[in-house]
Amino acid sequence: MRRNIVAGNWKMNELFPQADDLVNSIAEELHNYDTADVDVVVCPPFPYLELVSDVSEDGDFFTGAQNVSKFENGAYTGEVSATMLKSLGVDYCIVGHSERRKYFGETNQDIAQKIDRLLNEDITPIMCVGESLEERESGKYLEVIRTQIQEGIFHLSADDMQRCVIAYEPVWAIGTGHTASKEQAQEVHAFIRSLICEKYNDDVAQEVSILYGGSCNAKNAKDLFAMEDIDGGLIGGASLKSKDFIEIACSF
Ligand code: 13P
Repeated sequence: MRRNIVAGNWKMNELFPQADDLVNSIAEELHNYDTADVDVVVCPPFPYLELVSDVSEDGDFFTGAQNVSKFENGAYTGEVSATMLKSLGVDYCIVGHSERRKYFGETNQDIAQKIDRLLNEDITPIMCVGESLEERESGKYLEVIRTQIQEGIFHLSADDMQRCVIAYEPVWAIGTGHTASKEQAQEVHAFIRSLICEKYNDDVAQEVSILYGGSCNAKNAKDLFAMEDIDGGLIGGASLKSKDFIEIACSF
């Protein structure tokens, strides 16, 4: 059965001393709560992965990266491979975040390759999909999501599909304070699950955790996570405050 997951995406924030404080305070806070029914994941920038991975060894959380190279290893200046992530103890990796699609031209085909690299190293991909405001207002948002999913992840076998996590992050909700309503989010989550069911079968669809991201915070997380097809969250801004982040993780 699918897991509840709350992952914090720090994006390009915090200097090393603040990152050190933040991850240690997340670890301390987590000791005070029973989070047996949720996987908590901390996704710092690359330079802090070793720090987070070290702290997570004694903590009740997992380490995640925010990106990975689509290439294997070798002469690719500036890139970080899945094998490198694995050697640092990384368990999860975000792929295809809308900021990477928008600012770095990442395509669904790039994302498909990255997912393959991660699965080869037994790192769980958190594959992001989501529509822009224009796409939502034009009423074509489900078609946008369908294409992202079909081109980005449906090349996988049923066994590999069950090893992945999907995050629905409407672009218009990211960093804007305009959270999708629980009904809007549930509609898309149920749609994603129905796509997985059509392509594979219902057993596979029931195994895949689908997270919501976009201005998710300690106030709205409970309502969102109570929806049938919302299995947790991918948290940006609110993951930079340990108390808020833990409160979100305890919202099931
Ligand atoms: P915010 O929670 O800051 O809206 O960011 C969401 C996000 O992009 C997580 O990946």
